[in-house]
Amino acid sequence: MATTKKAFICGITGQDGSYLTELLLGKGYEVHGMIRRTSTFNTDRLDHLYEDPHESGALRLHYGDLANAARMRRLLGEIHPDEIYNLGAQSHVRVSFDQAEYTADIVATGALRLMEAFRDYAQESGTRPRFYQAGSSEMFGASAPPQNEATPFYPRSPYAVSKVAAHWYGINQREAYGLFISNGILFNHESPRRGETFVTRKITRALGRIKLGLQEKLYLGNLDARRDWGHAADYVRAMWMMLQHETPDDFVVATGDSHSVREFLEMAADIAGVDWKKCVEKDPRYFRPTEVDALEGDASKARRMLGWKPEISFASLVRSMVEHDLELAQQELTLTKAGHRVAPRGGAHG
Ligand code: NAP
Ligand code: GDD
Repeated sequence: MATTKKAFICGITGQDGSYLTELLLGKGYEVHGMIRRTSTFNTDRLDHLYEDPHESGALRLHYGDLANAARMRRLLGEIHPDEIYNLGAQSHVRVSFDQAEYTADIVATGALRLMEAFRDYAQESGTRPRFYQAGSSEMFGASAPPQNEATPFYPRSPYAVSKVAAHWYGINQREAYGLFISNGILFNHESPRRGETFVTRKITRALGRIKLGLQEKLYLGNLDARRDWGHAADYVRAMWMMLQHETPDDFVVATGDSHSVREFLEMAADIAGVDWKKCVEKDPRYFRPTEVDALEGDASKARRMLGWKPEISFASLVRSMVEHDLELAQQELTLTKAGHRVAPRGGAHG
């Protein structure tokens, strides 16, 4: 009889964490997520999957932090996972310029802490667990597109520098100790669950509110940057496939198509029925000290070796995000009309 596989996900409350959890639960895994203790709930993206722990659901959450090595070591020893996914990060590029040292501590040293805990756990358990490290196309930075596994890294932000370090920590541990650690190099991926300060979601959220008269302006930075945008549900499938592969390796995951921020805005505004030229203004706050101008990935290695390819098109991605955010704006309008004050979200900007 097949035993239930166990996965440990760091960063389970994020966009990718929630899609990966859905995927693994659907495959019959027992999923353990590490969450940060926060003063307000941070599990919105998981609430539809969570069951009362007293009723022994397949999803279990544990407090922990990438800043806390001892806790992660203990968690791995107690849970005995077969697969470990490190998705945890201060993942906002613009914010990493303001909080460079913190970003390095969580994104680079935090990954090392978890890999060290993984190394001890693999040794002590005498098993061969597998580790996924969430690398980023930001690592390519100023290297011209199309980018693949052979393209040199040229990181352009503290976030990207930290991801490069984490990537190399993974390769070093693989070579030094023979551990199963695979690095994904994922290009931008979005969804209706995308954080609201990343440009795609910032746009669709604002268009929904503008359409219903809840907001007048949308302030943006560089509209000329190009990104290779896919759907997060497709990309978490690639993460899982990397850990099912016979040997650990590094893989680019991308659609192979790119669009400018302006093109995303035009398509989303068209779907929402908003004249974006009347409501979008530039704000220097949203420009970066050093920008990544163009990312477009070549994922032929993942296609060839893993059999992975994206299934959700750019047009469906944009439509799903706009429709979701029009619905959210409608709910906000209904509440406002009923006399509830719905506060604007977020004090800081991104
Ligand atoms: P996200 O929505 O920002 O989620 C980040 C996750 O990391 C959240 O669960 C967050 O917890 C957690 N986290 C933050 N600081 C932590 C800490 N100190 N200790 C433990 N956990 C911590 O990011 P995402 O879009 O899902 O991306 C997942 C991963 O892939 C990240 O590492 C990101 O850098 C990388 N990546 C993303 C993309 C993309 O386009 N989405 C592309 C390439 C690589 P809270 O909920 O408590 O904040
Ligand atoms: N966030 C944001 N806000 N970006 C803006 C804005 C704005 O108001 N205006 C223009 N942009 C431009 C940025 O300058 C950048 O060129 C592009 O939109 C995309 O920005 P983000 O959506 O913030 O994503 P990112 O590409 O910087 O980083 C994301 O993708 C990486 C993979 O390439 C994040 O998810 C990273 O964690 C991830 O590694």
